[in-house]
Amino acid sequence: MNQKLYMVSLGPGDIELLTLKALNAFKECDAICVPTKSEDNSFTKSISYKIVSNALEVLDVNKPVVPVYSPMHFIYEDWVHEADIILDTLSKYEKVCFVTLGDAAVYSSIYYLLDIIKEKNEKIYKSCEVIAGVTSFSAASAEAKKALCLGDEELVIKPINPRGEVKTTQILMRPKIGMDTQVLGEGDFYTFENMYLEDAKITPSKIEKVKKYMTLFINFAKRD
Ligand SMILES: C[S@@+](CC[C@H](N)C(=O)[O-])C[C@H]1O[C@@H](n2cnc3c(N)ncnc32)[C@H](O)[C@@H]1O
Repeated sequence: MNQKLYMVSLGPGDIELLTLKALNAFKECDAICVPTKSEDNSFTKSISYKIVSNALEVLDVNKPVVPVYSPMHFIYEDWVHEADIILDTLSKYEKVCFVTLGDAAVYSSIYYLLDIIKEKNEKIYKSCEVIAGVTSFSAASAEAKKALCLGDEELVIKPINPRGEVKTTQILMRPKIGMDTQVLGEGDFYTFENMYLEDAKITPSKIEKVKKYMTLFINFAKRD
């Protein structure tokens, strides 16, 4: 079987904020794994299930929906259990989606799950595609008609109840063409140039000189 896992961002709740990529993944897949906080595996309280059902209605297709019990206790064993359900679903169906609210990049469990999946089945990890989505705060800004950052302002995203040391990921935008990136300091950098354009380039480090305005750097939080 040519197994493929899609980690699909659902956006903040409005079906119209689901991406075309997400809809295409739902069309393409054979089953959809949906997290639920209910111990009985029901979806009565699941916002994700509501969005997925809506999407399947819009697409006019039926797909098996597999509950993934996600108590959100931040416990490693729970993530292992969730990863096992995803892997088990992939042993029955060739293409599987797992869904997460908002955007997968922001406080989502998918990267804990992907770390475990990588250990258990490197091939599935490598074939996995993460589909970006609209964050709750992008949607909130649009609802309020208020920019998140303008001119020289910064944007800060903080956990209200941190469980331990708070580490920071920095997103660095709007560089000057020709600038030396030494000033950005050191860290776990990635450079993204002209994303999704013909000459798109992603470099898993910090490039030395900026060649294009459409360049952004991410200095990822140091994780063990
Ligand atoms: C585990 S984080 C997930 C964030 C999500 N991945 C995102 O991109 O926005 C959950 C938090 O996101 C915020 N959030 C997510 N969806 C929201 C919504 N529809 N309305 C208000 N806040 C929301 C709330 O602060 C909530 O406690």
